[in-house]
Amino acid sequence: MKEVRILEKRIRELLDAYVDDVKARAPIKSEAVERAFRRVERHKLVEHFFDYREEREGFEKVSVDPARPSTDALRTIYSDSPLMTRLSGGLPSSSTSQPALVAQMLELLELTPGQRGLEIGAGTGYNAALMQEMVGETGHVTTIDIQEDVVAQTRRLLRAAGYDRIEVIARDGVLGCPENAPYDRIIATVGCPDISPSWTDQLSEGGFMLIPLQHGPEGFDPLARIWKDSEHVLGRFVGSSGFMSIQGELASEQKLSFADQKQARTGVSLAELPLPVSVGIWSDLDRPERMERQFALGLFLAIADERGSWSGVVEKARGACLFARGKADKVEVYGDVSLYDEFVQLCQRWERLGSPAMEKWALEFFATNSDNQPPEGENAWVIPREFTIEVARLRKANDDSSC
Ligand SMILES: C[S@@+](CC[C@H](N)C(=O)[O-])C[C@H]1O[C@@H](n2cnc3c(N)ncnc32)[C@H](O)[C@@H]1O
Repeated sequence: MKEVRILEKRIRELLDAYVDDVKARAPIKSEAVERAFRRVERHKLVEHFFDYREEREGFEKVSVDPARPSTDALRTIYSDSPLMTRLSGGLPSSSTSQPALVAQMLELLELTPGQRGLEIGAGTGYNAALMQEMVGETGHVTTIDIQEDVVAQTRRLLRAAGYDRIEVIARDGVLGCPENAPYDRIIATVGCPDISPSWTDQLSEGGFMLIPLQHGPEGFDPLARIWKDSEHVLGRFVGSSGFMSIQGELASEQKLSFADQKQARTGVSLAELPLPVSVGIWSDLDRPERMERQFALGLFLAIADERGSWSGVVEKARGACLFARGKADKVEVYGDVSLYDEFVQLCQRWERLGSPAMEKWALEFFATNSDNQPPEGENAWVIPREFTIEVARLRKANDDSSC
């Protein structure tokens, strides 16, 4: 009995220190998100995780007994780290995401008591439990995962942790869950190359979805807040993220996979050349306020050219131009050096447009199978996807429309 009390006290201390840490680095801003983070015990939803061992260049399985977790396991679980919980073919296929990103997305989701939420990508159920805390007893959370064994485990652990009202469903999330629709909020916690028409159909009037919407290569997923009115599906970029990619029907062929990106930048960099526009030192992911201009340029590269992303430009067969980490305004060039000239032109175009920041973009989505096709316009980029055609436009100074 005494042992149990000591363990409970230890967990409380670690959980509080973990929340203080995430809060100190800004992603937790509201009382509602902080309260949810202090209530949900992450260790109760993790039975094992895979630790990456640099020296072995591979993962090692760490088992956790949620009833009697070891101090080492607790320290890892209550830290700002994503935990890989499934591997397939040696690569992560399920995880509990980095807590700072989870917090940032919950702040952006603005859940309030009584709302109905849908999550695509249940994973461990940690985010669903946080959502349930925010919508309270009068609200409802449905979460979907495509992997049946993930769903069975998550359903069992959520129930044991007291979250038996959350509905955990095994299916391809592209279908959404019409049984519980409409939803005030839909969130995907997996990188999506498109938005599913079912999500748009199942969204309530006045509601919105938050989707890590892949632009360019795999793992580059600007967060899009998307809503609808009677005629349009509209959106804005509200943040940045990098997720594992969705499986199932939405997983169209990747334009550039992680493997392609790695391949294009292997070998010795040919040259370190000047970045033609000044964005400062490209490195400080822990200090997002220093990254704003860099994110803005990276987002433009990804909209204007499918090879572009926050790390530069990568082309499968030709090579890469990558922002040099920790070096002000420098680019590392791999492979075909003529790629640098194309990269310079893209950067200069961004500057001529007034170096637009992330929030300057307005998005509109058109169904690929509808007669209502996107109008042509200046400073509008068309991104064709499987179900939708995305049009990204620079907003006029007087356009402050939002849902
Ligand atoms: C990063 S994890 C989600 C983390 C989770 N929200 C948490 O709090 O632990 C991504 C999850 O998305 C799931 N997934 C991938 N493709 C899916 C699809 N088409 N439909 C539903 N879930 C999918 C994966 O199986 C994986 O469990």
